[in-house]
Amino acid sequence: MATGAALMNTTFKRSLLVASALLAFFIMQRGWATDDVARGEALYKQTCVACHGASGAGSLPGVPDLTKASGSLAKPDDALFKNIKEGFQSPGSALAMPPKGGNPALTDEDIRIVIQYMRSAFMR
Ligand code: HEC
Repeated sequence: MATGAALMNTTFKRSLLVASALLAFFIMQRGWATDDVARGEALYKQTCVACHGASGAGSLPGVPDLTKASGSLAKPDDALFKNIKEGFQSPGSALAMPPKGGNPALTDEDIRIVIQYMRSAFMR
């Protein structure tokens, strides 16, 4: 039957279309996520690694260990964002965290991306 076959054909084409749209969407999402992690790592290695170390454990006195699950990274994104952007020094601390890690070129988006990088690379 011609109409039945045509109908089948349309339904089949439509589901192919939906499937490929979904596939494209997932690939795009993965692409974004991977790009952000790579960018976060590059930013971290440029600006933060001198004090915080490649592992996040800290390489100078007064620098907190960012690898502890109950440490600084347990704070919500917004608190970390503010402290990274504006800098801070806790009472009695041997060293201050400089605003934007001492790199004025860091944008708000860079800071958000670097926070995601630290969360994915350091917290175990
Ligand atoms: C000059 C050294 C130095 C550099 C560079 C530096 N930090 Fe820090 N950072 C510190 C010190 C010291 C502290 C702890 C300050 C304190 O507790 O008084 C700190 C604290 C932090 C914390 C904990 C925040 C909190 O709320 O507990 C985070 C997260 C952090 N730094 C991220 C970064 C990022 C991201 C960069 C790069 C963009 C960076 N730091 C660059 C020295 C540095």
